[in-house]
Amino acid sequence: ETASDVYYTVTAQAGEVQLVPGPKTKTWGYNAPLLGKFLVFKRGQHTHITLRNELPELTTFHWHGADVPGPITDGGCHAPVYPHQERKIDFTLEQPACFMWLHAHPCPLTAEQVYKGLATGVIVRDDVEAQLPFPRNYGVDDIPLVLQDRNFTADNQWDYQRDYDPDGVLGETPLINGTVNPYFDVTTQRVRLRILNGSNRREWRLHFSDDTVMTQIGSDGGIMPAPVKMTKLMLACAERAEVIIDFGHHQPGDTVTLYSDDTPILEFRIHDYAPDHTVLPDHLVDIPAYHVTPGTPVRKFTLDGTDDKVMINGKKFNMTRIDERQQLNTTEYWEITNTNSCHNGMGHPFHVHSTQFEIVSRNGHAPNPNEHGLKDTVQVNPQETVRLKVHFTCPGVFMYHCHIIEHEDGGMMGQIEVF
Ligand code: C2O
Ligand code: CU
Ligand code: CU
Repeated sequence: ETASDVYYTVTAQAGEVQLVPGPKTKTWGYNAPLLGKFLVFKRGQHTHITLRNELPELTTFHWHGADVPGPITDGGCHAPVYPHQERKIDFTLEQPACFMWLHAHPCPLTAEQVYKGLATGVIVRDDVEAQLPFPRNYGVDDIPLVLQDRNFTADNQWDYQRDYDPDGVLGETPLINGTVNPYFDVTTQRVRLRILNGSNRREWRLHFSDDTVMTQIGSDGGIMPAPVKMTKLMLACAERAEVIIDFGHHQPGDTVTLYSDDTPILEFRIHDYAPDHTVLPDHLVDIPAYHVTPGTPVRKFTLDGTDDKVMINGKKFNMTRIDERQQLNTTEYWEITNTNSCHNGMGHPFHVHSTQFEIVSRNGHAPNPNEHGLKDTVQVNPQETVRLKVHFTCPGVFMYHCHIIEHEDGGMMGQIEVF
């Protein structure tokens, strides 16, 4: 034990929340009735966590985006915590500052448990990010934005079974940070948004009512090498983006609305703010330059099918089968191909546990401008082959899967042993 040891308890619990007028909605959350307050970790800190389950069924606690050893710490299907029991885990994160998340992962109940609310954000801080001129006053100018969608029954409940779809549940009502019809009071010129697509299936296509520029500074695995300015941002399931919005063109009293496609999802109400002349540097951070030894075979995956016929490399998930093996601290090219035809249009967001990878190319072309940072989830469109550089720094058996959560529960998942 050292001075830098920190202790947390994370309890999965049931609750209810007033989301819409009328009866309260029954929900699940972490240390909260629904979702949870973001957890904040520091790079290099020895972190001891007690995971408690106060739900009526087993759950697991998965640290999506964390480089952690072994399937138990990682919290996938291998690490059940039974009702009224607890499990203790420890880890020391040795990865750059980033915005990751915690969610339930009990196969094949992941989709339903996340839908009920078992998801929350995790912020990792480090000394490199701390030197950059970013807003970081949590809740004031550094704001989480968890994007989800839900349907309500006549008595205001979420009925997962009623809405079930093997291609993923969609809801008509945007649920933003666990609230309906949200607004945010802007009191600083610049606001940093840590955006998580926490939906089971929905792709979010974000833009402002007046095309206000979003400057993306971070992706799944941390700060990007360079900021990227855009007026539209697409996030597939489980993807994260950190963006800075400069409201300098707006006057106190203005409102600006964030949309996904044609749906308004969040209103920003501009108040008085002090002028801020901060200019972001063109270069933000260095990304590790992983090198693939020439002659190393390319590891290939096909993402096959839709609805209950989804598979990876023609196989459905089997927890007792190891599908792939890769050496620790060795970089390989992975090629992920979505075999769906362009007609049915379903993309698969491919996620790998316990690593942050680089996106090398899409169908042989350069990836999107905001895909040059570290990632743990990549959208693979129909008829597309995405090439990655994958490197593991922790040993153990880990999952890789489609992050449309019903596809994952439906067997679109495999296991790799890192040795
Ligand atoms: Cu966020 Cu295996 O998942
Ligand atoms: Cu994960
Ligand atoms: Cu999928």
